[in-house]
Amino acid sequence: MEVPADIRLQVDKLRQEINAHNRRYYGLDDANITDQAYDQLYRQLQQLEQQYSELESAESPTQRVGTSPSTHFESVDHEVAMLSLDNAFDVLEMQAFEKRLCDRVITNKAPLHFTAEPKLDGLAVSLLYDNGTLIRAATRGDGKTGENITANVRTLKSIPLVLKGRHLPTRIEVRGEVYMDHAGFEKLNNNQRQIEGKVFANPRNAAAGSLRLLDSRITARRPLTFCSYAIGWVEGYKLPDSQFQRMQYLSTLGLPISPYIERVMSVQGCLDYRQQILEKRDQLEFDIDGVVFKLDDISQQQQAGYVSRAPRWAIAYKFPAQEVMTKLLEVDFQVGRTGAITPVARLEPVSVGGVMVSNATLHNMAEIARKDVRIGDVVIVRRAGDVIPEVVAPVIEQRKFELRLPKMLTHCPVCQSEVIKPEGQAAYRCTGGLVCAAQRKEGIKHFASRKALDIDGLGDKLIEQMVELKMIQSIGDLYHLEMPQLSALERMAEKSATNLLKSLEASKSTTFARFIYALGIREVGQATAEALALFFRDIKALMATNFETLQEVDDVGPVVADNIIHFFEQPCNIEVVADLLEQGVHWPEITAPDPINALPLAGQTFVITGTLDGLSREQAALRLKQRGAKVSSSVSAKTTAVIAGEKPGSKITKADSLGVDVLSQSQFEALMATVA
Ligand code: IVH
Repeated sequence: MEVPADIRLQVDKLRQEINAHNRRYYGLDDANITDQAYDQLYRQLQQLEQQYSELESAESPTQRVGTSPSTHFESVDHEVAMLSLDNAFDVLEMQAFEKRLCDRVITNKAPLHFTAEPKLDGLAVSLLYDNGTLIRAATRGDGKTGENITANVRTLKSIPLVLKGRHLPTRIEVRGEVYMDHAGFEKLNNNQRQIEGKVFANPRNAAAGSLRLLDSRITARRPLTFCSYAIGWVEGYKLPDSQFQRMQYLSTLGLPISPYIERVMSVQGCLDYRQQILEKRDQLEFDIDGVVFKLDDISQQQQAGYVSRAPRWAIAYKFPAQEVMTKLLEVDFQVGRTGAITPVARLEPVSVGGVMVSNATLHNMAEIARKDVRIGDVVIVRRAGDVIPEVVAPVIEQRKFELRLPKMLTHCPVCQSEVIKPEGQAAYRCTGGLVCAAQRKEGIKHFASRKALDIDGLGDKLIEQMVELKMIQSIGDLYHLEMPQLSALERMAEKSATNLLKSLEASKSTTFARFIYALGIREVGQATAEALALFFRDIKALMATNFETLQEVDDVGPVVADNIIHFFEQPCNIEVVADLLEQGVHWPEITAPDPINALPLAGQTFVITGTLDGLSREQAALRLKQRGAKVSSSVSAKTTAVIAGEKPGSKITKADSLGVDVLSQSQFEALMATVA
């Protein structure tokens, strides 16, 4: 068929565009396009190439995966190419997949079986084990040649350095995905912001960036995880002839496999599985972008064979994208519980991961400046897990006109008090305190929330209404509410009022940790509240504590300690606590044995001095405290050991004179590894 000139041009342009995205995605770890938009480009090109066979070319991006590796790492030639997967986006495409298979494989009229797993959103890695020992790890690269990242991969705790079991192969090449979970990703980015390092757009980029660091000591501190999903090749062992059983075999060798792996029957089984995983998606601790189905019978896999880029016997059934593009219409400001003023993006409504989103957080003004987000921009919005949707970045290429940067307000949008930016903090704050209705509302919402006192039937709207009507001013007022007031409220039926009073009564019976958390002290989350509860066991002890003692608590550094002290210095907070207790809020005594004593370094005291490589003294102290040790600032005869970094100073001399051990950084790391 004669190819029209405009089609040729379109195909050329698509190829260039996809190549450029591939270079970014696979080479530079800095994608500037959503998966959805990329898939669209890719499919458009695929369709045109199918329609006009003359346009087919070995150089087309549809015929290969990614681009060549960068020059920083040694190259590794994959003995067996690392392929990609074909995608399906709907039921019809899944049926077409099954039909293609039925046309090619001998089924003896039996239904096809598939191994089903989530499609992890990280990056593919190949692991080579020789007589059970990990001897090489490589990225996929362009599928034929990857990069040798053995030093980095050896730092991943989920990857065994030596295989276990009685059926070791002579050599085996295992493939799987390296990824970062949500908690690790958030923590890493927060840390990167603090040190003004690179902030990653999503866990996939963070995983890719972390694996391709030239210094494996930094990789070691990145929260990376591995999950196996295939065997490249094997010598010296006869593998089972089912994909599912092969995965079980990997598991017996000590390699992690997906806990969600299942064997399903025909397309219907695949669809049911997809639905089941889709429903779990938001609760998963990591990003997945679909589910993968692989023909279970290995001889059927062989009959189905390969196309250049992917096996015919497998398919990825994609989920709705968790990152999509939309327009940023306006930036508004919201006042939080602690007065922090957060910029909120008002967006042209768009479906993200299957949920309509019209607002997203922009975090703070520094983030807006760093990302250079402007009103009117097309932006990438991400929504994953139970994290609130956020604006990841603007799509600068689509900015046609000069657009304005959002500006912080000088006065609180709710109470008109002055807005200030405290030294060294990222957030601007409303100075209104309890004068500010927004802060009061948020404080009460927090107190009533599920993880705090869990007051059933006291929703956000109701709280807002009651604060506006001045029925409640602070959390203490909740327990003074009475029937006549409640039933006078608009849309409050008598039954709901009775139920609310009942759940208020029920909420009085709580735990010490929940109570501390519910007070809403700045930066005291659930984990810190639990640590404080275990440490102090008693509200009076907590209220009377001092700055030094607080820092002995796990997870509490100077900033949090300061917030706690400041909180209990405010007369209004002391009054609220007294009022709550008087109203009958109570909790069982904490009798659990002090967990600190059960930890490996319990009873030991360390002093840290000098500069540690790639680790702040606070971080090192946290690692020690997590293992039950105490960290002190001065050396005494009671000190277990001094940990000395570069330029340690006089503490070493003191340690020497007292006969206290001095550990180098590597000895410290070794200690951490043995008492992990
Ligand atoms: S199988 C020959 N299984 O998706 C089959 N891939 O889009 C090769 N991926 O390169 C891949 N989870 O990085 C397979 N359970 C899974 C997967 C998975 C994630 C990634 C992998 C692959 C890409 C293809």
